[in-house]
Amino acid sequence: MYAAALREAIADVTRGVGSAALASATEALTGRYRSVAPAGPPILDSADRVAAYAAYRMPATHAALARALQAVAATGVEPVSHLDLGGGTGAAAWASAEVFPSLRQITVLDQAAEALRLGQRLVESAPAEVLRRAGFVRAVAGAWPREPADLVTVSYVLSELDASQLKRLVADALSLGTVVVVVEPGTPDGYERILRARNAIRDLGWQLLGPCPHDAACPLAPGDWCHFSARVNRSAEHRRIKGGALSYEDEKFSWVAGAQPGTVAAQGISGRILRHPLKRKGFVEFQVCRPDGTAGREVISKREGQRYRDARDAEWGDVLP
Ligand SMILES: C[S@@+](CC[C@H](N)C(=O)[O-])C[C@H]1O[C@@H](n2cnc3c(N)ncnc32)[C@H](O)[C@@H]1O
Repeated sequence: MYAAALREAIADVTRGVGSAALASATEALTGRYRSVAPAGPPILDSADRVAAYAAYRMPATHAALARALQAVAATGVEPVSHLDLGGGTGAAAWASAEVFPSLRQITVLDQAAEALRLGQRLVESAPAEVLRRAGFVRAVAGAWPREPADLVTVSYVLSELDASQLKRLVADALSLGTVVVVVEPGTPDGYERILRARNAIRDLGWQLLGPCPHDAACPLAPGDWCHFSARVNRSAEHRRIKGGALSYEDEKFSWVAGAQPGTVAAQGISGRILRHPLKRKGFVEFQVCRPDGTAGREVISKREGQRYRDARDAEWGDVLP
């Protein structure tokens, strides 16, 4: 629901930017985000680049965050405060405000003043009061204000950092949050960074909230990577910028969430669906990650009644019925 409001807000604030400027800034950003080297100087360093980010990336990062946060909400977490580190134009704020009606305070921290400015303009007409009141505050990794929050998010930031900055940012997130959610692109190197965040969560003795149904080592075979998919509806402007004819795109993302011990009851889910389910006549076949720390094939057949009906509705990323 907020996705449509966000699309409209983005269209409003980017309307004044000329098409040629938007297209060339988009091209520069695409090239930069394809690279896996640490960023060095800030990438979102001009109004045109920030507008291009909002128009061509933010709907997708918002969609990925919404899916990850929905899975976290299903564990029973009800945060009152949310801190978004490296939050840029505020995609995580839009996702959390919709997923968690319990939220009363949202703060977005980032080094890029232009991104924060645009984020602030986007929320002016937002559908939730907590979002309209969100704070957009300039801060640099390593010197975040010491303001703990129930929920801390770090989305699509780690790829801009070198190994020691990454370690420090994840440690900062874990020292500031009761629940921490990290989201990265659903690529092999994005997954590798998520594994590093997952290890930091495990090393602290925290509870893993997802997507893993266990806290053992990741069981995926070498060459495989844990990732999920979120559908993003494209506006006409988005289609024009990205040069595609389809009215949607699928954003691939990897994520991990952890909570301080005692925050939520033990999960006990039956498994996490790791691929699009194969829906055949009379049965549904899944690739899943299991609570016993293994991964592999599961089949639910028509004989299983309600479980089979639930399996027909289940999607990649959901809990196994
Ligand atoms: C790809 S954008 C992601 C923005 C937002 N989190 C999202 O999911 O759409 C990466 C953001 O991280 C911020 N960032 C990168 N390094 C940072 C640092 N050292 N301190 C503060 N912010 C940083 C950038 O300015 C940028 O806004």
